[in-house]
Amino acid sequence: MKELSPSILSAELSNIKQQLEQVKAAGIKYLHIDVMDGLFVPNITIGQPYIKSLRKLSDLIFDVHLMIEKPERYIESFAEAGADILTIHYEACTHLDRALHQIKDNGMKAGVTINPSTPINILSEVLPIADLVLVMSVNPGFGGQSFIENSVSKLEWLKEVRQKENYNYIIEVDGGVKTSNIEKISNAGAELFVAGSAVFNDKDIKENIDGLYKKIR
Ligand code: DX5
Ligand code: ZN
Repeated sequence: MKELSPSILSAELSNIKQQLEQVKAAGIKYLHIDVMDGLFVPNITIGQPYIKSLRKLSDLIFDVHLMIEKPERYIESFAEAGADILTIHYEACTHLDRALHQIKDNGMKAGVTINPSTPINILSEVLPIADLVLVMSVNPGFGGQSFIENSVSKLEWLKEVRQKENYNYIIEVDGGVKTSNIEKISNAGAELFVAGSAVFNDKDIKENIDGLYKKIR
């Protein structure tokens, strides 16, 4: 089943309770939470204390995307804050294999991701232990950017390798996903679609979500 993971980066945080209720009512199961440290990416967002508060408001699956240097420093604290999936960047983590095992040992699903300029096959050695692989289809740091086309072949590669090797990871995509391109991205192999600006904009949240689901289900 294809699912959306709305990114709260584009949500109105002063109104987050109501916005979470609206996404839930529209049939959403996942919530994408972007954590940025101002070093790995040129922007700063929210951290564990805020996620802990969100956990009290919502039973959605918290899909936490860490855009921070040396994410292994904070694995335990994100588990305590209530993350269900913790995704870390290949480019930010020296001992990726160890960090992915630590995420699992802390009771979360282990996700791994790469920037648009990083070749996907660099992840070959960790694919057997990954619960989720996220293809960044924009340069991380900001919502509302355009989808980078080389992501399509990365999704196709992940789908092919998973089938060939009998791996189990979920294939997720993040950045520039819209009603105009989601069908193509889905056909390439994506199963979990992050959508920030396409869900939280000046239009109705439920209509936005219905419009995206209509193209992929
Ligand atoms: C970008 C973030 C994304 C962002 C996507 O660094 O990782 O999750 O919220 O936003 P849209 O869907 O607007 O491209
Ligand atoms: Zn993200």
